[in-house]
Amino acid sequence: MTGPGRSPAIDFGNMIAGVLEGGGIDPDRLRGDLAERFRDAHAQVETRRAAGEMGFFDLPGDRELAEATRDAAGRCRRGADALVVIGIGGSALGAAALRDALLPPLRNELGERARGGFPRLYVLDNPDPDTVSALLGRLDPARTLFNVVSKSGTTAETMAQFLVVWQRLESALGAERMGSRLLLTTSPASGALREIAAERDIPVLPLPEAVGGRFSVLSPAGLLPAAVAGIGIGSLLDGAAAMAGRCATPELAANPAGMLATLLHVADTEAGASVQVFMPYADRLRGMAYWVRQLWGESLGKALARDGRRVETGPTPLPALGPADQHSILQLLMEGPRDKVVVFIARESCGEDVAIPRLFGDKPALAYLGGHTLQGLLDRERRATAEALRREGRMNLTVAVDRVGARSLGALLMLFQIAVVYAGALYGVDPLDQPGVELGKALTCGLMGRTGYEAPRIPPPDPRWRV
Ligand code: PA5
Repeated sequence: MTGPGRSPAIDFGNMIAGVLEGGGIDPDRLRGDLAERFRDAHAQVETRRAAGEMGFFDLPGDRELAEATRDAAGRCRRGADALVVIGIGGSALGAAALRDALLPPLRNELGERARGGFPRLYVLDNPDPDTVSALLGRLDPARTLFNVVSKSGTTAETMAQFLVVWQRLESALGAERMGSRLLLTTSPASGALREIAAERDIPVLPLPEAVGGRFSVLSPAGLLPAAVAGIGIGSLLDGAAAMAGRCATPELAANPAGMLATLLHVADTEAGASVQVFMPYADRLRGMAYWVRQLWGESLGKALARDGRRVETGPTPLPALGPADQHSILQLLMEGPRDKVVVFIARESCGEDVAIPRLFGDKPALAYLGGHTLQGLLDRERRATAEALRREGRMNLTVAVDRVGARSLGALLMLFQIAVVYAGALYGVDPLDQPGVELGKALTCGLMGRTGYEAPRIPPPDPRWRV
């Protein structure tokens, strides 16, 4: 058991030589070169943090920002039946992860009383017209709050949906009343959203300058929707602060984010395990696995090292869900190329377990299940899968939380954020930038006719290469 003070705990025996069948990391290295390498990575992160570049570390302690977020949530919750977050990437995935983890499953289907009077919560990220029209068509504009989240205030997908919503609100409620149905979360200093908020007197919350999109889950980007929906954001922040405290040490053996980053970095760069499968065994953590994918992918997939060398590096994160995906990719994990490492995310107890009844005692395929619970089945399947992988010499480790609650989730989110900046230092890349997405954005602006952007010449599909 992890115990509340040690949750999450990382069990990494199945990465270690002598435990992992036929391979694994020499345990002496954890006290030797890997400990030294981590000490250096830790120092690099601390230097950037002290220079004010890693604002996500400070969010759990920024109680003023949390209080402003709570106040805004209290104001805009009044009279709202639904909150729609409009954002994409780091401006949406954190809110979705919090919603999935901390609100009851299928909550949007419940009536107001069963939701404790808190609004339904939707996240609109992909600007797919099918989804957008279906959702907007079923919501009452007078009882819906739209929280538009964009750090830059320029992201095409978010701005397009903002414009659609703006027009619908204006025609349904009129220019005077519509402002109360909007809340903008954006840069405190610049961008179109900031200007519109000032010009039209629309409430606005800041996304701190030193907090990048994929590190913004504990800023108003994630906290505002969470607070509107009734999630205890104080506990989330407490959990995150506790994890940051555990990661203050440069000692690899005592630093959970350091150990996670180090093991996955070695798995990739020395053992060829460049595909990192993040596999929670809890539906509530599915959103978090997608959040981790973005955090990992955008932070570590880089062409250039910080010293300017061309490295084209970075592991490939792959979200999965147990045990459902045992019936999807386990065969590949067990017998396919040895280019994968599995990060199981285990929950030791669940809110309301379901007993499996003892029925059909004469049918061996069913009889053994009776008397167990569904959580018991989930947990045994995870343990059995980890053991099967170990026996096949397939590296895996387990991040275990005592339960999925606000505090443990805050700790989990902080664990992965700190781990990814350590991993950035280990790979020698900058985990805070994402230069690779700019070209596609510029070409889109050109194709959409934005002033200052040239329409790119993209050759039409050549019939010779079409079948
Ligand atoms: O992590 C990131 O920086 C990105 O995923 C951004 O969050 C995403 O591109 C959205 O950007 P913005 O918040 O500026 O609209």
